Parts: sequence; C-alpha cells; structure tokens
Amino acid sequence: MEKRRIIVDCDPGVDDAIALAYAAANQDKFQILGITSVSGNQSIEKVTRNALNVAEYFGLDVPVARGMEGPLVKEPLLAREIHGENGLGQCEFPEASGTVVKEHAVLFLYKKLVELSKKEKITIVATGPLTNIAMLLKLFPEVKEKILEIVFMGGAAMGGNVTPSAEFNIYVDPEAASIVFMSGIPLVMCGLDVTLKCTLKRNQVMKLCQSGNPAAKICGDMAGFVLENTSTKYRGEVSVHDAVPWMYLLHPEIFTGKRTILSVECSDGQARGTTVCDLRWWNHDEEELNSIVLLDADQERFQEYLITALYELGESMKGKYKE
Ligand code: BDR
Ligand code: CA
Repeated sequence: MEKRRIIVDCDPGVDDAIALAYAAANQDKFQILGITSVSGNQSIEKVTRNALNVAEYFGLDVPVARGMEGPLVKEPLLAREIHGENGLGQCEFPEASGTVVKEHAVLFLYKKLVELSKKEKITIVATGPLTNIAMLLKLFPEVKEKILEIVFMGGAAMGGNVTPSAEFNIYVDPEAASIVFMSGIPLVMCGLDVTLKCTLKRNQVMKLCQSGNPAAKICGDMAGFVLENTSTKYRGEVSVHDAVPWMYLLHPEIFTGKRTILSVECSDGQARGTTVCDLRWWNHDEEELNSIVLLDADQERFQEYLITALYELGESMKGKYKE
C-alpha cells in the first residue's frame, strides 16, 4: 500500500518531541516529507533547533524548515513553565549534524505541495499554533486542493487549559486558526476532550526513565519534567497531547468523534481562542460537515501503543549513541 505523505508542523515542546519519537518508530507506515517549526511553546530559535536535534536523534532523516516567529496579530506567548527554558524539559539532545533548510517554512510547504503529481496529496500533522499553515493558505490559496487533510492538536469542544475555554495552540493564534478552519480543507481536531485522556501515568513515566532504552528514557525524562513542574503532578499523570494526531492516523479505531464545522472566537474578550464545534448535523448539508472532532479515546490502548513504539525505537537506536 502507498504510504501516507506527511508534513509535520510543530513547536517542540516536550509532547511534540515525544510525538516525533512515535512518528519515527512508525516510519515504515508514513512518508514524512519534512518538518516545519513554528513559534509556540518556546521561541522560534529554540523550537527550530529542538526539531532538528530531536528528529536526527530519533532517526528521522527529513528536512527541517524554520517558520513564523510569532502569531499573525498578537505577540508570542510561550509555555516555558510547562516545557522548560530549553523547551524540552531541560533534557539535552545531542547537537544535530544537519542544518535547517534555506527556505522559510511557508515556502518549504508550498514547494512540497506544488511538487506533487496530479494525483498526490499531503496530510499535515500540526501540533503547534496554526500560524505557518494560515500564512500558506493566505499566500498560496491554490495549494488547498493538494492537502488531503490537516490533523491537528488544538482546541476543545469543552473546556480549555490556558483560559477556562481556550486551549494553548489555538489561544496563541486564533486568527490563524480561523483562516485554517474557514479554508474548506478537511480537518481532524484532536483537542483537549481527547488529549487529556491520552496520558502516561506516573509509574509508566518512572519505568521509561529507569529503562536503559535511549528513546524510552529521554521521552520519560521529558514527560517527568512536565509531571513534576506543572499542576499535572496532582493528577499523577501527564498528557501526551501531540502524539494524538499520529495515534489517530495509525489507530483510528481507538477514538470516537463526531462530524462538525469548526470555528474560533477571535475577539479580545474572555472567550478569545475558544473553538466552537457545531454538532447540529440536522442544520447542515453532509458536505458542509467537513471536519471531525475527536471526543474520546481508549486510554489503555493509547498507552500500550505509545510505550511499545518508544521501546522499539530505542532498540533500533542502540549502539548509535552512548547510554
Ligand atoms: C498543546 O500546547 C502545547 O504546550 C503542547 O505542545 C500541545 O501542543 C496542548 O495544549
Ligand atoms: Ca505542541
């Protein structure tokens, strides 16, 4: 079977990095054409370097392009209290030998899309603010038809994490999210409704940390940082939000969702960044409901698939790096 072509847009970020490890472990099922960075969890300099280092460490041999250094309208809002000063929970990855490509991420995305043959399309997996993708769609609206779907971590049908109703990736750049939501491209929203169920428990994190497996250990160390440094320590588990889009692509059967139309609140009031999922199927024609919002996940399956993949990845890395 032909592999799904994917471009990853991300802001690593602890969970972005764990998601990249999960993707690297499943490279036989995807054709990853590149990684684009976007300002979000940390500055564009840091997340770009992190993307480069993390990808190379986990054996993802793909180009990395540096993207937008801030949201379309507002100033950047970083999440250093969750992801640490270096963006990776203070874990040190070896410096990559490769370098970032010359083109800006938006042009990189454009080139990858126009290079495709007539029949080919690309899936975008987005795990940061949607700034790069919004810029792409504004500058080159003709590439829309080359995008099969955008599977993104962001938003929530109910409840937020930055404000009572807004999730971080969307809150940082709601104007960008609005452009993406209105584009007509099929979307899969992996929001907090489902990602808060896709966690690792404290004892699972401890086991990863204590393993001699290079991928499992560094992912455990990063997740452990978030667990210890945020309010999640009271819950005793840590969400791996950004692994959810990848998990959905590989194991859609562990999720439930509903067809919807997405929109986002862009006013400066207290609802800024809130995603609105219109679930009134009776009010819309079938083709208008072009998005899916994930609402539930089988937590145990998620944990099992993720942990197994990290160990397998680490096995394939052994000997490459000092333990
Ligand atoms: C999202 O925000 C970021 O901090 C995480 O990397 C994830 O993409 C969760 O709200
Ligand atoms: Ca992220």
